[in-house]
Amino acid sequence: MISNPINQGINGSPNIPGDKSISHRSIIIPSISNGICEIDNILKSEDVNHTLDAFKNMGVKIVEDKSKIIIFGNGLNSLKKPINNIYLGNSGTSARLLTGLLSSQNFQTVLTGDESLQKRPMGRIANPLIEMNAKVETNDGTLPIKINPSRLNPGNIDLKIPSAQIKSGLLLAGLNIDGETKIVENKITRDHTEIMLEAFGAEIEVNNLSNKKLIKITGKKELVSKNILVPNDLSSSAFFIICALINNNSHIILKNINNNPTRNGLILALKKMGAKISILNERLNNKEIICDIEVFSSELRGCELGSDIADLMIDEYPILAIAASFANSPSVFRGLKELKIKESDRLNLILVNLQNCGISCKVVGDDLFIYPSSNYEIKNNVIRTDYDHRIAMAFCIMGTKLGPLEIKDSESIDTSFPTFKKELNSLGGNIS
Ligand code: S3P
Repeated sequence: MISNPINQGINGSPNIPGDKSISHRSIIIPSISNGICEIDNILKSEDVNHTLDAFKNMGVKIVEDKSKIIIFGNGLNSLKKPINNIYLGNSGTSARLLTGLLSSQNFQTVLTGDESLQKRPMGRIANPLIEMNAKVETNDGTLPIKINPSRLNPGNIDLKIPSAQIKSGLLLAGLNIDGETKIVENKITRDHTEIMLEAFGAEIEVNNLSNKKLIKITGKKELVSKNILVPNDLSSSAFFIICALINNNSHIILKNINNNPTRNGLILALKKMGAKISILNERLNNKEIICDIEVFSSELRGCELGSDIADLMIDEYPILAIAASFANSPSVFRGLKELKIKESDRLNLILVNLQNCGISCKVVGDDLFIYPSSNYEIKNNVIRTDYDHRIAMAFCIMGTKLGPLEIKDSESIDTSFPTFKKELNSLGGNIS
């Protein structure tokens, strides 16, 4: 894929797809609930399709039509042993959440994934489950994972790693355990699982203790299905927001975007940088906050972000680094350890690709420093993505300013945003 420079800015209202995190949960939770669930606006992308196929392979009746997916759930213990191993492609969310859910089921399963997913750490979900008596065998801390049936004990977990995937996997395991599982989250992460479980009638209690959270879930209570409208994805919107901010003469409006306070660190960071962004029409849908977002081209300032905000915007650093490259002063983003173990080593790829674009930057420990200039000299216009969708989309946006950039292995964009190129081009982008 080649991302070419644009000179007229981007204008209009892009169609942003449904939220990826909520889409995964919209398949998993109704599949183990009782009743029929109609899901509107689910993200149709490779990652979400892997979760969908997993549940079809475990015997759940799922009907797909053009705009909706309908799931016929039969309760906590209705899943069947799949005939084959469950293949999850590139999807870390599917792998961690399903490891938790399936560890308290009464059949054996094996989870596998693509080359990149097979390198990602799975001990972080397997180990707390093993402490709860789960019979989970990893391949030296990675996929494939073999999950043998076992009777789990309720957990008492002090979650040191800030990860919604681990938290969610443990909550899903807890649904089928006799007794109360307690999780202390030392850093708050996205809470879509808690919100949806509560809406489906789970016995779940969430207590906020200054910057920490105590979550209690009592298992063996059957869930009741409800319909779900998936809001549009703020993480996918981010590419358009920054494209509009850094290109003159831009004005865009993004509609029906999820603005969950455990996810919207990017908006807070951009406002700190002086971005002209307005949050409009805030409303609630099943306890998820939805809004419209209006963005104008802006003169950005650099900023310092502490590690406290990192968990509220962990997926947005690749694109935030592009914004920082066009600010009028340096930026430092601290505490980015988790970025090293995403779909790629994102911290390293941000650094290497920014440097190839002629931008002065450095990583010290887990902190990223960016020193913008008003004139960049491209050193190498081939962008290495290691099949990471967010690196590919972020550097497509870089190309609108410094292109042409050749984005390698850009087919990874299909994991989260298959219509990205079409949408950007329809607003004034020039991706070929
Ligand atoms: C996700 C949680 C985050 C995020 C990922 C989606 C989720 O991962 O990076 O894209 O849906 O729970 P971690 O839990 O590993 O931080």
